[in-house]
Amino acid sequence: MKNFIFVFILFATLLTVNAAPYQFDKRATPFKRCPDDLPSPNVIMTPDPLVAGESANFNVSGILFTDIYAGIAVLRIRFFSDPTRQTLIANPYYQDFTELFPAYTPFTIVAPKVDIPNNLTNKYTIEVVIGSEKVDDIYGCSLANVEK
Ligand SMILES: *[C@@H]1O[C@H](CO)[C@@H](O)[C@H](O)[C@H]1NC(C)=O
Ligand SMILES: *[C@@H]1O[C@H](CO)[C@@H](O)[C@H](O)[C@H]1NC(C)=O
Repeated sequence: MKNFIFVFILFATLLTVNAAPYQFDKRATPFKRCPDDLPSPNVIMTPDPLVAGESANFNVSGILFTDIYAGIAVLRIRFFSDPTRQTLIANPYYQDFTELFPAYTPFTIVAPKVDIPNNLTNKYTIEVVIGSEKVDDIYGCSLANVEK
């Protein structure tokens, strides 16, 4: 019995020690609502964190209050060097929707190959927007402030 307890405590300690850095590495970049109070889509990036100069997959999903029409609605991804979104780091990424998603129903759009700027600053902001008229009419917006 004593041996059993000892082994149990040893295992528990090893598991805790191993789990801590693993969870830290796996923590995804948190996206939040933009200040405009529009719906905030979920964003999953692969890889996460992003690698400057390489490309990444963005999976954007959620529910909007606006119909998403194929060929009219667009996904835009931008990188800024400041959290107030004044200074763009590179050209925006655009992808047209090819499917209709009615308002208040879940949508998903996957951008398989988004080029990540090779001159990413130490702190940068990722903005993910869905809207139309490229993109003055914004339906939804999410932001992440990242520190390299
Ligand atoms: C995108 O993310 C959604 C929500 O997490 C998930 O249901 C869906 O399977 C993902 N799609 C792809 C192609 O990874
Ligand atoms: C990064 O490079 C792009 C051109 O590829 C340039 O337009 C942009 O100003 C640069 N941004 C920074 C923060 O250096």
